[in-house]
Amino acid sequence: MSDGDGELEARLVEQEEFEPSDEFVEQANVSDPDIYEEFEENWPDCWERAADLLDWEEEYETVLDDSNEPFYEWFSDGTINASYNCVDRHVENGDKNRVAIKWEGEYGETRTYTYQDLYREVNEFAAALRDMGVEEDEVVTLYMPMVPELPIAMLACARIGAPHSVVFAGFSADALATRMNSADSDYLVTCDGYYRRGDALDHLEKANEGLEGVDHDVEATVVVDRLGDDGFGHELAENQHDWDDLMDEQRGERVEPVERDAEDMLFLMYTSGTTGEPKGVKHTTGGYLAYTAWTSHAVLDLKPEDTYWCSADIGWITGHSYIVYGPLALGTTTVMYEGTPDFPERDRLWDIVEKYAVDVFYTAPTAIRAFMKWGSKFPERRDLSSLRLLGTVGEPINPRAWKWYYKHIGDEECPVVDTWWQTETGGMMITTLPGVKNMKPGSAGPPLPGIDARIVDTEGEEIEPGRAGYLTVNKPWPGMLRTLYKNDERFIDEYWAEYSDEDADEWVYFPEDGAKIDEDGYMTILGRVDDVINVSGHRLGTMEIESAIVGVEGVAEAAVVGGNHEVKGEAVYAYVITEDGYEGDDEMRSRIIEGVEDAIGPIARPEQVVFTPELPKTRSGKIMRRLLEEIANEEELGDTTTLRNPEIVTDIQAKVQGD
Ligand code: WTA
Repeated sequence: MSDGDGELEARLVEQEEFEPSDEFVEQANVSDPDIYEEFEENWPDCWERAADLLDWEEEYETVLDDSNEPFYEWFSDGTINASYNCVDRHVENGDKNRVAIKWEGEYGETRTYTYQDLYREVNEFAAALRDMGVEEDEVVTLYMPMVPELPIAMLACARIGAPHSVVFAGFSADALATRMNSADSDYLVTCDGYYRRGDALDHLEKANEGLEGVDHDVEATVVVDRLGDDGFGHELAENQHDWDDLMDEQRGERVEPVERDAEDMLFLMYTSGTTGEPKGVKHTTGGYLAYTAWTSHAVLDLKPEDTYWCSADIGWITGHSYIVYGPLALGTTTVMYEGTPDFPERDRLWDIVEKYAVDVFYTAPTAIRAFMKWGSKFPERRDLSSLRLLGTVGEPINPRAWKWYYKHIGDEECPVVDTWWQTETGGMMITTLPGVKNMKPGSAGPPLPGIDARIVDTEGEEIEPGRAGYLTVNKPWPGMLRTLYKNDERFIDEYWAEYSDEDADEWVYFPEDGAKIDEDGYMTILGRVDDVINVSGHRLGTMEIESAIVGVEGVAEAAVVGGNHEVKGEAVYAYVITEDGYEGDDEMRSRIIEGVEDAIGPIARPEQVVFTPELPKTRSGKIMRRLLEEIANEEELGDTTTLRNPEIVTDIQAKVQGD
């Protein structure tokens, strides 16, 4: 490293605030600082600006209907079709030859879909769904890896007004069955398999196993043939159809986009919460699409001529909002990559950025921490000069990782947007507008224009800068979840009850995150305050993992916490009590790991399983998770005086350190 670099490095370490370059600001979609004030003064009509990015069939007259709080409705007298907005209108506007999806498989094969190609395939698959009997408002489950057929199926569902429920391909058979049962879904679209680090994985076997756990008749399953000759030779059952055969049958078919009410459901997305049962987050058509299009425009600064890449999986909300709906609504080229960042080598992502001249790149801090560990020589091998803007999402990013990203990927030229949001919020909520605000590494930034986020104490009172409190959102926004599927009561309990004063008619949304604010109104997110942990940016409920462990033969009780992990952010630590007559040995440990993988998937696999005769409990019998976290993190232990069994803590600590 030359001296110049050394100085630069030292300056970066010190620097706490970064300005976007004039060059970036000049070309930014949003660069007028008055936008914050304008949205505040003009709220809720300011949100017309988001809705204006879309083509409505029937123009709405009401922006916000708050007559039934907290069941807010947005643009509710308008009608719209999401598939029309993401596909047809670009074809009609003369952009049929622009690339919509650029897909790359792990082995380097590529597929390119222009908007015209997408239009044709979405129509044909919509016709196939109709032919199979899918009707408007019937939930279609999509259990698929990162293949282009996944966004095609999503848009085909949207076209006919059938909400989709995408289940992450890494989830287990049991997880698929639970979600299909909960959504009462009679249709499944899946895939024979996919590639991971060079190996073909059998996905259909898992899907079939999941189907066995479905408690109602499944009408039909569609199977995409991804593996060809590498396939596992499964015979399709009678009600299972090959994707290509269906598409051949429907060649040239066109399906009119169904006119949907703005408030009709676009999709369901299951996510983890405090209890063991996943929550079916309901998003609707008009508000969600307007919000994802708006944030893609204002924060990701997407323009139709951009090549944009979000490296998330479509099986999570990030992929829904910022691989599929937001970018396609704006007519951008969106990149999809099937595989892992280190196959065949650790420069794979930078290879893709170089090859397609990616303009805007959006990823997760866990990935950035892995890139840092691998070293800057990998990005240095590639030409990344096409990049204009970088983003992160999913978990807090520490200043060191932020600065590494800024320097080694963005060459100190690209603003970095650290975007805080959730499955429930539909789109970004707290982050800098890159063409307006300076960035402060480690802080997501101020709430976006029109978003009224605050940090409060346990009484709901706003607290002073610098102190940790609870994040709340005090006004509704168009991308918000509308309810938990078929469970309005849980919706209220989980998100609104805490600080809301029903009599005063003040409904406050509670995201379950801790946060602090600085003098400039920038917010730093400190992490979840409920029993949800964040493993490699994947949101997991400790209760779900605990119930999987307790389901293993010979386990009496289990407590799961998140412990710090260098790359994953958090990792799963399980403390387990065995039943009498069972040994806490390696065999038991493997059965526990297998049990978790079967119930949820490999992402929830415990990093460490610690056997203990007791768990630290308060006198009222509550497990003291804080202590278990401190043990996992090898931190100094806090107060143990309220415990019924304080002596167990040092025993457990000795075991963890001994392992
Ligand atoms: C966390 C992912 C800090 C947070 C879009 C939130 C973040 C949960 C950030 C939602 C960020 C997300 N900084 N923490 N920029 N973004 N989180 O539903 O705890 O999978 O509540 O949505 O991730 O996770 P979810």
